[in-house]
Amino acid sequence: RPVLFSGMQPSSESLHLGNYIGALLNWVSMQRDFTAFYCVVDLHSITVAQDPQQLRANTRQTAAQYIAAGIDPSECTLFIQSHVPAHAELAWVLSSITGFGEASRMTQFKDKSARYGTDATSVGLFTYPVLMAADILLYGTEKVPVGEDQRQHLELTRDLASRFNSRLGQTFVIPEAHIPKASAKIYDLQTPEAKMSKSAVSPAGLVNIMDSDAVTAKKIRSAVTDTEREIHFDPENKAGISNLLSIYSSLTDTAVPTLEEQYAGRGYGDLKKDLADVVVGTLGPIRDRALELLEDPAELDRLLDIGAEKATAVAERTLETVYDRVGFIRRR
Ligand code: TYM
Repeated sequence: RPVLFSGMQPSSESLHLGNYIGALLNWVSMQRDFTAFYCVVDLHSITVAQDPQQLRANTRQTAAQYIAAGIDPSECTLFIQSHVPAHAELAWVLSSITGFGEASRMTQFKDKSARYGTDATSVGLFTYPVLMAADILLYGTEKVPVGEDQRQHLELTRDLASRFNSRLGQTFVIPEAHIPKASAKIYDLQTPEAKMSKSAVSPAGLVNIMDSDAVTAKKIRSAVTDTEREIHFDPENKAGISNLLSIYSSLTDTAVPTLEEQYAGRGYGDLKKDLADVVVGTLGPIRDRALELLEDPAELDRLLDIGAEKATAVAERTLETVYDRVGFIRRR
């Protein structure tokens, strides 16, 4: 089976609907056809300041949400990034073949550093995509299911892998992004021109897996739309409605044109009411299962230990080859 790798940052208590549709939903459907590695990328999350206590809680909480959403630790390798030192070690090697200009062109870095200012922007944030490349390349990954916002990081990963291979000999598999069109980008419910993100301007625009049913339903019903009446997909002119249709389509596996037909002549209120039911029906049980799993942190940690062991075995082997190609003397 081909290898798949993906990860998410444990930088808040809850994953959001964008993470779920853009990534998790595909992770679950792909785990049986691939040798899948799913990672909680705690090393990435400290590139912006985290409270240590909170980070520990969020890391378990993120792993619990993966499992609750259907990631099966006996079917794949589920682990925490910092448990496998090879990630940081390979990142160092890759950073030495990454151009400063090349890293400076990453739009996510440009956006974030513009938001934080130079002094609050860490060097870790700058090298973030290099660590991400290390994550992927350690496992001989062929497919990386992510949202659209990660496409450029995947391009960098491919460039670094080819560069290393051509300079020092065939070592890395060149990975491909897996970004299905319908789930590629979910937008904020209050500002449907911006992607849904944990740094949302208004909490009402952000739907969280761990929110209560009532809060989720209210957020969907209060989503910003437009002053027309037609329910049809037109992201340019009807960003809000189009986003609701995308969400509906992804969660029910129904094509958007089918939904347009189904809602022909009906009002926005009908669409929102039905979609609220769909979202609550999907996320509610995941939240409840995650809460159950969190009641037994020792069992969760046991599963993560097993994952770390499986991941380490693969990652160490790659790192050894890399060190050898680079010209490091092997320790005896
Ligand atoms: P993170 O935690 O920011 O996002 C996790 C995943 O959720 C997707 N996503 C979205 N998809 C659709 N619409 C949205 N509004 C939306 N917001 C987030 C992201 O594309 C991502 O797939 N850098 C990665 C984490 C990472 C990683 C890796 C991923 C680290 N190493 C190796 C793949 C392979 C990230 O964006 O995390």
